[in-house]
Amino acid sequence: MFKPQFMTKYMLFILIITLIPLAGCKQDSAKKIDKDELVYPQNKKLISDKAMVVSAHPLASKVGMDILRKGGNAIDAAIAVQFALGVTYPVAGNIGGGGFMVIRMNDGTTAALDYREKAPLAAFRDMYLDSLGNVVPRLSLDGHLAVGVPGTVDGMVKAFEKYSQLKDWKQLVKPSWDLAKDGILLTKREANGLNRNKDKFEKFNTSQPVFIKENGEWAKGEKLVQSDLARTYELIHNKGRAGFYEGEVADELVAEMKAGNGIITHEDLKEYEAQWRTPIVSQYKNYEVISMSPPSSGGIALTQMLGMVENYPIKDWGFHSPQTIHVMAEAERRAFADRAKHLGDPDFYEVPVKELMDKNYLKERMANFNPNAATPSDSIQAGVLTKESDQTTHFSIIDADGNAVSVTTTLNTGYGSKVVVSGAGFFLNNEMDDLSAKVGVPNVFGLVGEEANAIEPGKRMLSSMTPTIATKDGKLNMVIGTPGGSTIITSVFQVFLNVSEFGMGMSEAVNAPRFHHQWLPDQIFTETDAFPAETVTALEKLGHKVGVRGSGKIGRFEGILVMPDGKLEGGADIRGDDSAAGY
Ligand code: DON
Repeated sequence: MFKPQFMTKYMLFILIITLIPLAGCKQDSAKKIDKDELVYPQNKKLISDKAMVVSAHPLASKVGMDILRKGGNAIDAAIAVQFALGVTYPVAGNIGGGGFMVIRMNDGTTAALDYREKAPLAAFRDMYLDSLGNVVPRLSLDGHLAVGVPGTVDGMVKAFEKYSQLKDWKQLVKPSWDLAKDGILLTKREANGLNRNKDKFEKFNTSQPVFIKENGEWAKGEKLVQSDLARTYELIHNKGRAGFYEGEVADELVAEMKAGNGIITHEDLKEYEAQWRTPIVSQYKNYEVISMSPPSSGGIALTQMLGMVENYPIKDWGFHSPQTIHVMAEAERRAFADRAKHLGDPDFYEVPVKELMDKNYLKERMANFNPNAATPSDSIQAGVLTKESDQTTHFSIIDADGNAVSVTTTLNTGYGSKVVVSGAGFFLNNEMDDLSAKVGVPNVFGLVGEEANAIEPGKRMLSSMTPTIATKDGKLNMVIGTPGGSTIITSVFQVFLNVSEFGMGMSEAVNAPRFHHQWLPDQIFTETDAFPAETVTALEKLGHKVGVRGSGKIGRFEGILVMPDGKLEGGADIRGDDSAAGY
């Protein structure tokens, strides 16, 4: 139940405006939703005629939908949603982080925008090692030294310059400025997240950020007003790129770094540029899969996994049959082994893209696949997955003209470095942990790396983010993606197959239980109760270790499926506050 003291006129207004875009859409809230958790109504499964936005927060989905209704295209909506998540979803939505945007226009042209953070110019290879050469625990995760140079604002500017249909930057930023100024109501999950991290916010901040609730805890439905952030959005609204990388906000960010022994300077900010990359495009049967290129490993690893299972009859074996799980886990194992060795920032390291995706190479990679036994991973030191929460965020958009955008964006782990820029009101990322602090030593996601992903000044850290668009028989079919660190790639792999091989609709595909193998540690991780006991036994007989992953959940997926009649099915993950909006 809502607490009466928070049931304000404002909240009623928000409830009403959130419901308006649903007129004309068929919604079917999945049965597992706990109604008591809903501060803003969430549409977990939504069918719409023309356009759809699916994101991690109902207000952000609404902001995107409003832009589409006003004549913006999918890219305009994506820019507005990215900014809105920076206010409504502080745990991962951001302007202090980075991300990737994959685009497919209705004429079939594609693009990939890399607004990934970069290592500061003063970064160096051994910066997270002590005098004995050991990695200092959490130095790349908590506090000022963990922060990469943020890319989000420049990314949005680049997307706007090349693709905006509205051609009105201010209209895209204004809704988020208003949300920061007027306040948002906290969902139970967000309130819990802020409360859980209170000690860290206190420890790693040089001033008292608004996210720390004095005298007590945040409650579901309570209003969070972000005045400092509102002023930052005002500057971005008025000045675009210069509102963030120059002037007051830049001064505040650099002052924050100095106060907390961080290393980002004005020069880092001035020279940051988002990059257009060539998307990774591959064929899987009658699908074309368009995904993110390096410095994300997502597109290549997804292509590898799909290529490795393509010749096995997984449809006949069935969804989550032991044979299907076995062959998928073996493909995942092999792709992650390649990731650790061969993938990194293409501006620093020559990534053998073609070779890694070559169909013959992938066939060869499976030559030692044994249908009756797991292939043990190489026995170098195994990484340990921690219980760090699944915090990054994805959104998927299709506009009424059939343009599609798939965006995954992040601060890395929940609330990033936990550092809020004093005076500017936004969290800074802890993306530096995605670079390899030392060969063979796993990062927070248990991922290991070598030369390709070693720390260098100005280098982008290797990512697993996999924003993906698929066509079927040449027509737009799916827009998909999720957070989840290393599990992002395997989750996209599974949801794609759930639809393409196992005949699921998008909502069903998104909400189906998930599993994950990443080579090291040598284990199949599952969600709680993902497999019945007999399936676990069958996998163990094949030689797999099977165990539940830290939090018992994997990812928070946002997908859109173009149905045979041309209508759109949005699937927003039941694992979070995610919600679809459409018309
Ligand atoms: O870029 C990456 O692969 C990670 N920084 C993503 C982090 C993430 O998904 C957090 N959620 N678990």
